[in-house]
Amino acid sequence: MKEVFEGIAKAASRIADALAHDDTGYSDNKNSTGDVQLKLDIRSDYIVEEELSRIPTVHALASEEQEQISPIRTGGEYLVGYDPLDGSSLADVNLSVGSIFGIYENSFVGANLAAAVYVVYGPRIEMVTAYKHNVELWRQDRSGEFKFVQILRLKDQGKLVAPGGTQQFWYPHHKKLVDDMFAEGYRLRYSGGMVPDLHQILIKGGGLFSYPGTTDKSKGKIRMVFESMPFAKVFEMAGGLALNDEAGRLLDSVPEGHHDTSPCFFGSKNEVLRAMRAYGNKLD
Ligand code: AHG
Ligand code: MN
Ligand code: MN
Repeated sequence: MKEVFEGIAKAASRIADALAHDDTGYSDNKNSTGDVQLKLDIRSDYIVEEELSRIPTVHALASEEQEQISPIRTGGEYLVGYDPLDGSSLADVNLSVGSIFGIYENSFVGANLAAAVYVVYGPRIEMVTAYKHNVELWRQDRSGEFKFVQILRLKDQGKLVAPGGTQQFWYPHHKKLVDDMFAEGYRLRYSGGMVPDLHQILIKGGGLFSYPGTTDKSKGKIRMVFESMPFAKVFEMAGGLALNDEAGRLLDSVPEGHHDTSPCFFGSKNEVLRAMRAYGNKLD
């Protein structure tokens, strides 16, 4: 696994350089979800594929930006599902963006996630790894090397709410959940990039990030293999919860296709359980 993390670290340094210096405009292409790709989406995807295909333990790669799974070699124990540049619509306004990696064994189902990693490209470049027993924060130093900073743990309750999805299309019970939380003093923290938004909740110790099913998109927008299952690994291992709108663990998800999406709720225990009650789910 160490060599996979090293490949991710190399890719991250190159993506950070592209973000700092390259054109932030759109390309002429669409990805399989129908999003128009930025030149930076394509460049980041190329960088990740180039770096990870060199790693002997990588068997195959699946990218948010590519329709098909790329077989890399016959050997190798890991299948890496990745979003090379999450929140890329924020690149032109110079807000933080990220990369997300799920490192799977055998198939792209939540139960087979051996590790998850994300990188935040902000004023500092930080990497969070969820592997074995700990969620760890790493930060790039002046020489470009990632140095261990601390273990991350969520509290049982936080103060932040990051409510995704277009409000016009929220279901009434979802709107009530968010309104009630604001009425109780929770603060809005939503940038439109799930990496910095979830990173903020994790670093500040808790809160709720939701990207629900809506009247226009019943399964939401967040892709399971590249986005929500890797973050579910991070949030559960940090002592929080990551559930869908039926109170099922995102880590129990079995996507039918590797681009499938699902509603998702991440955060500290109290807030996620409260969201489940607002959705009428029976909890044990
Ligand atoms: P991507 O840039 O990879 O397409 O994903 C962006 C995702 C996620 O980062 C964010 O939380 C969500 O889209 C924002 O969606 P809205 O614009 O609907 O809030
Ligand atoms: Mn994304
Ligand atoms: Mn993306």
